[in-house]
Amino acid sequence: MTRPRPDRRSLLLAAGAAATASHALAGSAPAVHARRRRPVMVGSANGLPGMQAQLPRMMDGLEPLDAAIEVVKVVEADPEDMSVGLGGLPDEDGVVTLDAACMHGPTHNAGSVGAIQDTLHPSEVARLVMERTDHCMLVGEGASRFAREYGHPKVDLLTERAREVWLRWKEGMSDRDDRLSPKKSKKSGAADRPYRYMGEELTLEQLLTTHRITGTIHCSALSLEGELACCTTTSGLSFKIPGRIGDSPVIGAGLYCDQEVGSAGGTGRGESAILSCASFLCVELMRGGMAPKDAGMAVLRRVTEQAQRGAAWQPELVREDGLPAFNLQLYLLNGAGEYAGVELYGTHAFSVADEDGARHEQLEALHG
Ligand code: GLY
Repeated sequence: MTRPRPDRRSLLLAAGAAATASHALAGSAPAVHARRRRPVMVGSANGLPGMQAQLPRMMDGLEPLDAAIEVVKVVEADPEDMSVGLGGLPDEDGVVTLDAACMHGPTHNAGSVGAIQDTLHPSEVARLVMERTDHCMLVGEGASRFAREYGHPKVDLLTERAREVWLRWKEGMSDRDDRLSPKKSKKSGAADRPYRYMGEELTLEQLLTTHRITGTIHCSALSLEGELACCTTTSGLSFKIPGRIGDSPVIGAGLYCDQEVGSAGGTGRGESAILSCASFLCVELMRGGMAPKDAGMAVLRRVTEQAQRGAAWQPELVREDGLPAFNLQLYLLNGAGEYAGVELYGTHAFSVADEDGARHEQLEALHG
């Protein structure tokens, strides 16, 4: 819903121009940005197109929950993105199941759906759970039925491309069964063009191995009025065991927001975000006075320590050098509009939108 507002856009844009100039003088964008009373959206790299579309509406007073959900819906409906919604990679049985949640700062309420099937916009269904039930979470068949009751049509989410990738994964799983991978010289149509996953272009090989677990979209939003909300949505871990739910629909793990403090969300290995209550911890550390970047790094250090303990009976959780063998990205935003994006490893991007426009910035890596 859009509330009538005085036109502050030119004022904000002027402030943005001054801020951009100061960034240029500094040589690079600082890890944490501190400005007040302006809308800000922060989230995963694949949120950029949605943020570009919603930023002008936020400048005109769009509510943060509306903004966050509209941002993620772009990817939910995109058949080319294989990490979320339509076109997302399926579970080990070839069935696409989706997880999503949203949280609203002013009312401190949240809703989520887990392992929902045949539903294009689980983020909107999560909102319905929040606003039209006394519950926080619906899963599986109950969540799908609930979606139909509220007019969400049945949609086949398994695209031809995702089905082909799943088949290649299934064929390559074992040399002790009767399925054979296609001969190298005979490329299938699915392998000919790159795959879009979390805003990156990947080869089939990368999709099947290195990047298996990272697909999700998160958006945290701070409105012109200073209200906070967030949303996270995903097709979850590719080729997961049927019934597996990741961090995205778990309030406090894949997202959390508190109107008195800030908002946070994560993408990457969901199990690590669940075991560390990552998003809740981000917000609680900010409540204790930490800047967003410091809070995010502290949570990643906690995740690292937990993986090292877990490696006692699951050695594959850590690499040879003892550091986590997976990645986790965290996006943090406080009520003053300060934000940060951090990850365990790499040089990946995250999305930001404010008076400087919508853009990608580089995540800060804990372990380089
Ligand atoms: N973070 C997405 C998942 O693990 O399902």
